[in-house]
Amino acid sequence: MSGLPRLPFPRNDVLEISPEFGQLRATEPISRVRTEIGDEAWLVSGWEEIRRIFADDRFGRSHPAPESAPRLSHSAFAGGPTGDHATEHEVHDSMRRLLAPAFSARRMRRLSAHVEHLVDQLLDRMAGQGPPADLHACLSVPLPIQVICELLGVPYADRERFRAIAEEMTDLSDPKRSAAAQAEMNAYSYAIVRAKRERPGEDVYTDLATAELPEQEIARIAGGLLFAGHETTVNQIDHGVLLLLRDPAQRDALARDPGRAGAAVEEILRMAAPSQHGLVRYAHEDVEIGGVTIRAGELVVLATFAANRDERAYPDPDRFDIGRESENPHVGFGYAGRYCLGASLARVELRAVFQALFPRFPALRLAVPRERLEARAHRLTGGFAALPVTW
Ligand code: HEM
Repeated sequence: MSGLPRLPFPRNDVLEISPEFGQLRATEPISRVRTEIGDEAWLVSGWEEIRRIFADDRFGRSHPAPESAPRLSHSAFAGGPTGDHATEHEVHDSMRRLLAPAFSARRMRRLSAHVEHLVDQLLDRMAGQGPPADLHACLSVPLPIQVICELLGVPYADRERFRAIAEEMTDLSDPKRSAAAQAEMNAYSYAIVRAKRERPGEDVYTDLATAELPEQEIARIAGGLLFAGHETTVNQIDHGVLLLLRDPAQRDALARDPGRAGAAVEEILRMAAPSQHGLVRYAHEDVEIGGVTIRAGELVVLATFAANRDERAYPDPDRFDIGRESENPHVGFGYAGRYCLGASLARVELRAVFQALFPRFPALRLAVPRERLEARAHRLTGGFAALPVTW
């Protein structure tokens, strides 16, 4: 068994994914691998197969024996089992019921004008600073943070603090550090939620303050929202910009017709893979699926970024093309019961960015060679430390 392919698969270019995912998928869309910490797992890289597993209730995020469960990485956050095995589905259902109205597509669409205004302000500031300027610091980081702070009711003045905690949560090298950071994020968030009982606002943390869930679950949901509400969007903005800059014809097409931003965003969500980490699931019983038998308790790694490049779902899947004719049913936000709760919000933010950026800076380009960008390979969510651009 020592000959199993071992994660993480290397890649030379952060805009591509490792060719090993495609090679495995060609013969085994659900294949046996070893994780970076040496545990065995099933890697799912096929589009059809990943959707089936996403939609199958026999898989979950919890494990009956979390201490001895196989792990994808040392990261406390998303590297292994989460939640209580006995109550996972129940707690998850309550979480969705509680939060779904606040993040509904209709409510998020009402935010569009405000988010567009924030983007304009940030781009004005970037124009005032450069050229050159760091697009990551001027736009990708502050936009999602400002929006999620307003929605949750978290003080924007605390951004440096929770951003630093979020950074530590994604640390892949030191399990103690990421676990401590996750506990700190939950405690920080829960303190704000608790304060809403005295001083309620029109925000999601105020809704959480009155939720009938155990304190620990509320803290976990509050911390999870603050983390998920910004970290992934930051990286999608950076990667989207890079994908478009790599392809000046498509950048120009978008600059000429910002109405194509919606389609461009879907293509970015399909192709951008800031991290090749994957999502964790555990089989809660023996499951026969896609020609293999996954035993109860085994680890399943959902490689959404690989499934999004499955040639059975997309013609010429490695080509970035904002003009894809067909629907774009990527799994960049997951699928089925755990489909990203913030998908509509993320879309509002990404569309606002990609409809404004290139008309405003039609000659935008990287200020350093792409190979010199500092990729955060040791972080669960990947991404960059900076994105120097000029125009
Ligand atoms: C472009 C940015 C984003 C991407 C690519 C993304 C991606 C994802 C993915 C793939 C999942 C599924 C996880 C799984 O099945 O294990 C997920 C879940 C989730 N996302 Fe996002 N997300 C983004 C932005 C956001 C934002 C802005 C929020 C704001 C609140 C958010 C909140 C959540 C939550 C709460 C879940 C858990 C849903 C559940 O377990 O039912 N995400 N996201």
